[in-house]
Amino acid sequence: MVTLAHLSDVHLPVLPRIPLVHAGLKRGLGLVNWHRKRHAIHRMDTIEVLLADLAHQAPDHIAVTGDLANLGLPEEHTNALAWLQRLGPPDRISVVPGNHDIYTRLGRDPGVARWRAYMASDAYGRTLTGDTTDFPYVRRVGEIALIGLCSAVPTPPFVAAGRLGAAQLERLPRLLDAAHAAGLVRVVLIHHPPLPGQAKRLRGLEDAAALKAVLETHGAELVLHGHNHRNMEAHATWHGGLVLTLGVPSFSAGVAHGHEPLARYNVIRITRGTDGHEVEMTGRGLAVAGGPVVELERRKLHVRPAESALHLPGE
Ligand SMILES: [Fe+2]
Ligand SMILES: [Fe+2]
Repeated sequence: MVTLAHLSDVHLPVLPRIPLVHAGLKRGLGLVNWHRKRHAIHRMDTIEVLLADLAHQAPDHIAVTGDLANLGLPEEHTNALAWLQRLGPPDRISVVPGNHDIYTRLGRDPGVARWRAYMASDAYGRTLTGDTTDFPYVRRVGEIALIGLCSAVPTPPFVAAGRLGAAQLERLPRLLDAAHAAGLVRVVLIHHPPLPGQAKRLRGLEDAAALKAVLETHGAELVLHGHNHRNMEAHATWHGGLVLTLGVPSFSAGVAHGHEPLARYNVIRITRGTDGHEVEMTGRGLAVAGGPVVELERRKLHVRPAESALHLPGE
């Protein structure tokens, strides 16, 4: 059994001054949005309460699916790196960037490459990806292969869309096939919701249809994502079973806002059996603002192999 913790959209509430060289319309509007709305929602005290609870869960590995920052500024990347280092070492934590991490172009600044140690293939992954620093990266945690995609691209004002691009979509099938052939449970990490229609047009993954086609052809057992700041569940099907997609709310929401609930993270236990594998998902987070972290839900999502009937709870 492998226990993964999945958290996302931390939106670390520490905003540095915007250096003149990185100023611009998008960042200016982002700053206004932060002060008018977001700074009251994403709170450091909430993060601390959830972190303490997460430590008690002692997961084997932590998946962080992006939006650590708010305006994608170099100082935010540095702050986020320090936060990740506090969370744990790179071999225990896998990160993919979100649209608030890669926000606009930064010129020669390394940007999220500061987090490279948390976004690189391990020894197993390098046998598939080689020594490249390009996405996707691959890591092995017990019987799981984690495959990290980058859907974040610089975008104009009012656009929070994402895109994988041809190169990642071209490399992904071989990685999925190889991990499957090795008998591993494939868990894909991506910031944006992976399937078409899961986010509004200017907020969604532009090549979601192409990603869905890859998932339907080559399969993956689980896709973990963030971005919508909501609890989400969907699935695609491939000939070997279901591709479950799970989205998690923000890790720092101290206040519920519109459709966005209070802070939460998921603990995902994956057990391999003779009858396929079993995924148990436990949501832990705030039930009331300012309250303690409690178990919000616990569900089994059983995925059987190709020949058997598939079922999801409720079906
Ligand atoms: Fe976010
Ligand atoms: Fe996002």
